[in-house]
Amino acid sequence: MKKNEAIIKLTDQHVFQNYGRYPIVLVKGKGMHVWDKAGNKYLDFLAGVAVNNLGHCHPKVVTAIRKQAGQLMHVSNWFHIEPQSLLAQKLTQRSFAGKIFFCNSGTEANEGAIKLARRYFYDRGEKARYEIITMQQAFHGRTLGSMAATPQDKIQKGFGPLLPGFKYVPFDDMAAVKQAITSKTCAVMVEPIQGETGVNIPHKRYLKELRALCTRKKILLILDEVQTGFGRTGTLFAYENFGIKPDIMTLAKGLGCGFPIGALAATDKVARSFGPGTHGSTFGGNPLACSAALAAFQVLSQKSFLRQVQKTGQYFLSQLQELSQKCPAVGKVRGMGLILAMDLVEASAPEVARECLQLGFLVNATGPGTLRFIPPLIVTRKDIDKLIRTLERIFKKL
Ligand SMILES: Cc1ncc(COP(=O)(O)O)c(C=O)c1O
Repeated sequence: MKKNEAIIKLTDQHVFQNYGRYPIVLVKGKGMHVWDKAGNKYLDFLAGVAVNNLGHCHPKVVTAIRKQAGQLMHVSNWFHIEPQSLLAQKLTQRSFAGKIFFCNSGTEANEGAIKLARRYFYDRGEKARYEIITMQQAFHGRTLGSMAATPQDKIQKGFGPLLPGFKYVPFDDMAAVKQAITSKTCAVMVEPIQGETGVNIPHKRYLKELRALCTRKKILLILDEVQTGFGRTGTLFAYENFGIKPDIMTLAKGLGCGFPIGALAATDKVARSFGPGTHGSTFGGNPLACSAALAAFQVLSQKSFLRQVQKTGQYFLSQLQELSQKCPAVGKVRGMGLILAMDLVEASAPEVARECLQLGFLVNATGPGTLRFIPPLIVTRKDIDKLIRTLERIFKKL
């Protein structure tokens, strides 16, 4: 571990201390594995927080980046950008969206969604319709708008005054949303599955009813698919599992499969409200990011790939269920595709995650009592079996 320690010391001396980091330095990745500076190998069930959907250094993505880097990395959006247009074409062909706006991260996509919803009603003469309803335990990002949309004390504390215009209701509670809508409401913003706060999956009909309510009230439905997009739930976008279509959708993480890129997708009618000069991003949609995302999309969007994610996800869930029968330390388990979680009974999830790390597995605790599993979508049954055996060993020791 000595080789790791030198870099850890540098981080502590020179880098903002805003992350609680695990005490290893990752230097190499291939497929499902990463290696630290001392040469230790880890099986990755975190995927850079649901980013590396094709695993580490997928050859098609690496080749596309190398090729584009030697040709053209950045130009202004004052010009047409070929990989951007091609990527937007793919995304609109495979989703509800009519148009795409590109940016660099999940929070930036959500800032765009908040602005677009407000501007849509402004353009219709409804200037007092600016309020957005979001859900308790949501996570939409750290910038001022997204943070205001994220009603968690640990995210908002000390950063006030918050951007006004948000109302919070419990997740998966239709009656609460109905009650919260007023003549000021312009949109409801929701994650199809809440990822950061423990993989909270709503009841089957929730999103369908929410969609119907928004349509009836003539307000917009914004889906934050930053974590659930790009095959994570076994379909290209999570909304497909719930039989609905949003008006606006935000994307990032798995879009670039490791290369930073975000996007805002909207119907043609809504997208029209971002006319020339209304919104922008210097780096958003640059040739390099879009080439990486295009290469990733070509693999991710294949029907056979998505079918495999569904099958592997079902297997993973069945193994977690078996483990919960065997180990009293395991409580409720849940998942859809390859976003899964396990509640622990009288055991500390961060401690179990640290034990996993010692034994060569990257696993994440979303809170004191919940473990989350968001591996690359290329994970195999063999990889899952290895993790399950390790968890069983840890729980037996507890
Ligand atoms: C659902 C959701 N929205 C937004 C974000 C913020 O994305 P970023 O960290 O790229 O700004 C995240 C990040 O975890 C997320 O899970």
